[in-house]
Amino acid sequence: MAGLLGAMTMAILAPILVYIIPPPAKGQKKGPQTVRLTKPLTEIGPDEAVQFSAPDGVAFLMADGGGDNAPGDLAFGGYVVKHGESAPTVYAINCPHLGCSYGFDAPNKKFACPCHGSQFRLDGSVLQGPATAPLAHLSWKETEDPSVITVDGLTLGQGA
Ligand code: FES
Repeated sequence: MAGLLGAMTMAILAPILVYIIPPPAKGQKKGPQTVRLTKPLTEIGPDEAVQFSAPDGVAFLMADGGGDNAPGDLAFGGYVVKHGESAPTVYAINCPHLGCSYGFDAPNKKFACPCHGSQFRLDGSVLQGPATAPLAHLSWKETEDPSVITVDGLTLGQGA
């Protein structure tokens, strides 16, 4: 009787658990992804940002976010930023308003989104709306080579 009850419980719970905790898509593998920067970390100056893109077949995973971004959302690019003399930070390139890729306005030391005009300070905070949430971070690490960082992400399966 207990075995029958257990089997019935699993038959009911399994589809619910799969919905709540979806299995990784076939061929996807989470982990640090290697990114080669166009400028070594050691040469990025104060209030400077360097853009990078995800390698083919790779997506980055946002560490946090607000607005249109959320932890675990995919990003296909980002910026390494030095705000003043502070240590580098890495942001996902997705605008928190509706997801467009924003750009770096070097002369004015800010980020600007071409879609609806949102602007962000180099610390990621909102300078001008319509965005109301700050830029999303990517989790990253330095390597022995200052031109190479690793960014948390996943390799996309075939057909992605
Ligand atoms: Fe960037 Fe709307 S998507 S301002």
